[in-house]
Amino acid sequence: MVGENLKLEDLVSSLQKLEYRGYDSAGIAYLQKDHFDVYKRRGKIDVLRNGLKQKLKDSFLVGIAHTRWATHGEPNDVNAHPHMDCRKEIAVVHNGIIENYRELKEFLEQKGHTFSSETDTEVIAHLIEEEFEGDLLDAVLKAVRKLKGAYAIAVVHRSIPDTIVAARKGSPLVVGTGKGVGILASDVTPLLRFTKDVVFLEDGDVMVLRKDRFEIYNVDGVKQSRRVYHVDWDEKSAEKGGYKHFMYKEIMEDPQALVNALVGRIKNDRPFFEELEHYEEFFKNIDRIRVVSCGTSYYAGLVFKYFVENNTDIDVDVEVSSEFRYKRPHVKEGDVLLAISQSGETADTLESVRLAKKHGARIVSIVNVVGSTLDRESDVTLFMNAGPEIGVAATKTYVAELAVLYLLGLKIMEINGYWNKEADEILDRLVRMPELLENVLRKDPQIRELSEKYKDFKHFMYIGRGYGYPTALEGALKLKEITYIHATAYQAGELKHGPIALLDPEFPVFAVMPDDSLFFKTKSNVIESKSRNARVIVLGTEGNRSLEEITSDIIHVPPTHESLYPLMMAPVIQLFAYHIADMKGLDPDKPRNLAKSVTVE
Ligand code: F6R
Repeated sequence: MVGENLKLEDLVSSLQKLEYRGYDSAGIAYLQKDHFDVYKRRGKIDVLRNGLKQKLKDSFLVGIAHTRWATHGEPNDVNAHPHMDCRKEIAVVHNGIIENYRELKEFLEQKGHTFSSETDTEVIAHLIEEEFEGDLLDAVLKAVRKLKGAYAIAVVHRSIPDTIVAARKGSPLVVGTGKGVGILASDVTPLLRFTKDVVFLEDGDVMVLRKDRFEIYNVDGVKQSRRVYHVDWDEKSAEKGGYKHFMYKEIMEDPQALVNALVGRIKNDRPFFEELEHYEEFFKNIDRIRVVSCGTSYYAGLVFKYFVENNTDIDVDVEVSSEFRYKRPHVKEGDVLLAISQSGETADTLESVRLAKKHGARIVSIVNVVGSTLDRESDVTLFMNAGPEIGVAATKTYVAELAVLYLLGLKIMEINGYWNKEADEILDRLVRMPELLENVLRKDPQIRELSEKYKDFKHFMYIGRGYGYPTALEGALKLKEITYIHATAYQAGELKHGPIALLDPEFPVFAVMPDDSLFFKTKSNVIESKSRNARVIVLGTEGNRSLEEITSDIIHVPPTHESLYPLMMAPVIQLFAYHIADMKGLDPDKPRNLAKSVTVE
């Protein structure tokens, strides 16, 4: 941040909005007259804040701050950012990985530089020191030309109190000015207090930021102009809003996220995407769609596969991005590659897109973050419009992804002449779904009771068939990532091919079994599990009395079209995991070993 009347509190509270991006250590550097004060602490930002308690009202002219998720060097006070040069004149914060830092470090050591940390970031500070001849922009330009890897950096100099120089390649960076403050960050949430008009830097951009303006250059120092995005999110929508955890708040926002994803996208009782208006031909007469994504977004992709394949003759191949990018890409000129990523910054998904593009594929992406790298690198982006998701585990963005994917599936049916009465019914039920999701959320006390009953088990087996299978996968992922309980997911029909051997009274089964065409098949698998004395939780449809023959641990959801159960059931699997994490005293917003945006491979 750079500006007038800035207090340290502004810098620290802005940093706290980014804590979800990494939280193993944090630090700040701010200019006091002619020197930098630097504070760095291992742990969450509150540890840093406590250490600065007496100073939060101090003013500064320019300051940078960072919350770290280690890639090079263990999380400790020394390795925390900012990092400085030998003369303590330059301070740098950095997201990403510098691939050639060893070579650069060797080169700099030969020139007499000494290093105090084990990080790749510190080489950037020394490299800029080496290049500095009075002009910080010039020094940063020269330095970034030597960097290989991914970076978003912010650089300040002791003798230039009104300027921050920043650069981006591969890691997000967004900038804005307002209320006498120039601010840049890795996402928009800290900016909202000052401005709603923001600019997303592009790869290769280098920027000079002052309190009231900024200029963007390419690495050759040529001025660039960038589009200004107006962001509707208010600051409040990026905060916890009274809930104990962001994750809980965000699950409660599932119905709203669904509304936001649907709004404006149905015209004359048919799906309508403004973004697709000039690109419908991408999907015309195709016989195959490739989908790349990771984690929860991958499971949303699986739902899309079932949906499109059940309703058309079009094949959908869904692949985890980290596999796709290292295989011979079976994509040719004119093929559609659909990339799903709430952050729009997942490195493996971006690389898959770049690879497919090289082979002539058309890129359609589904993204929550406007202006993210994936958004900018795609031919068409369909936005989720879910608002900021701060909890590390995807919840409302999963709901939004599904909503957009159902609409897209329906659109593809329409474009290719598959529209039928059933499509009318699905669309109609989709539109009525937000209200039903509110009903599902009202079951929260019952779900919490069930979580209490099952919280001490060490293993879970999630099973489902057809559309129930992605729900089983997502349920198991939610449970393991925030409760650290081992959970596995199988197609119910696969149980007898091995996994059933695991089952006993200590290995409960979570059966996803809505009233769909495969209900009786799944039911027989669940009965097989029961005969191994496994405890069973059933997630089924209201009014189905036969579920009581299986277990008394039942969560019901309202009836819907069979393809839409993944959406209807999403809040249940999320809440079940959330409550167990909460009861175990874990922080579901910040699960260990995980970060919200996986911007490294
Ligand atoms: C799980 C979760 C992750 C993400 C995955 C992909 O709750 O959040 O599995 O789904 O890292 O992230 P995006 O969608 O940002 O590409």
